[in-house]
Amino acid sequence: MGGKNDMNLSPGALPPEHLLPPLETLAEDLRALATRSDAAARCLAASTTGTFVDRDGREDALNMIRVSPAGLALVAHLSRCNPAKISIDIGFGMGGSVAMALAAQKDRGGSFTHVSFDPFGLVQGGAVVQTYLEGEFPDEFKRVWKSSQIGLSQLLDQQGPGCAGYVFVDGGHTFEQVMVDFSLSDQLCCVDGHIVFDDSYYPAIEGVIEYIRTNRPDYVVWDNPVPNTSVVRKVSYNYPSWDAFEPFTLPNRRRWTPLVSDWDASLPPERPGATSL
Ligand SMILES: C[S@@+](CC[C@H](N)C(=O)[O-])C[C@H]1O[C@@H](n2cnc3c(N)ncnc32)[C@H](O)[C@@H]1O
Repeated sequence: MGGKNDMNLSPGALPPEHLLPPLETLAEDLRALATRSDAAARCLAASTTGTFVDRDGREDALNMIRVSPAGLALVAHLSRCNPAKISIDIGFGMGGSVAMALAAQKDRGGSFTHVSFDPFGLVQGGAVVQTYLEGEFPDEFKRVWKSSQIGLSQLLDQQGPGCAGYVFVDGGHTFEQVMVDFSLSDQLCCVDGHIVFDDSYYPAIEGVIEYIRTNRPDYVVWDNPVPNTSVVRKVSYNYPSWDAFEPFTLPNRRRWTPLVSDWDASLPPERPGATSL
C-alpha cells in the first residue's frame, strides 16, 4: 500500500516479481477490459455512479457498499493472475468485487469457478446484480448462502488444500472474523495465489496484515498502490512451526474507520495511446 499507513514493504525491498504494476497500468488494463466485457463495464460504471444497471434497465443502488474504481482494477488484475481453477469472494455485498473477478477470468479464458460466500442479503439490494451475474456467468458463478467460516471449511473439505488462487476478503470486519477468513483462505490458497484484504486501513484488519508480515514467511505483503486494500502473495507452503511466533506491534490508532474522503481511490486519467492487455 502506498503511503497512508505505511503497511506494506517499501518499493525496492522485494524482487520485481513481487511488485504490482503501477496504478496507471492497472487502470489502463481495467478500461480495456471494460471495452470487451459487458460485466466489467457495468461494474466499473456502478462503482463510479453508485448505481448498477442491468441489460434490461433494472437498477440496484450501491449506497455505501462499493469497491472503488482503483480497487476494481486490483481485483481484475489479481483474479486474472489466478493460477488455480477456483477463486473466492468473502462477502457478496452489492456484488462489485464478484462481478469484476468473474469478468476478468472469463476474459482471460479457460474454465474456472468463482465462489461467493455470504449468509445474508443486504437490505440495500443486490438482487439485480446477482440475477445479472447468474445470467452472464451460469457456469462460473456460484453464490453460497453460508458464512465464510462454514463455507470455506466445506470447500476445503471437498476440494482440498491449495485449490484456489485468488481470495477477496470483505465479509465480517472484526479482527477475529478476518483472522478466521485468513486462516481458512491460507489453507485453500496455492503458491503464487493472492489474498486481498479490503478495508485494511481499519485497525482490526491492519492487525491481521501485521500478523502476516511478522509471522508468516510463507507470504509476502505486497507493495500496493490501491488505498485501503492490502495484498498478500503466498510464496511457499512452509508454514512456521508452533513455537516460532513473533510478537508484533500495532500503531495505537483509535479511529476505527477513516473517512472515505481521506483518500483518493479513483482511477488515474486515461493516457492517450496507452497500450493494455
Ligand atoms: C462490505 S460488504 C462486501 C462488499 C462486496 N465486496 C462488494 O463488492 O459489494 C460485506 C458483506 O459481508 C457479508 N458478511 C458478513 N459476515 C460474513 C461472514 N461471516 N461470511 C460471509 N459474509 C459475511 C455481509 O452480509 C455483507 O454483504
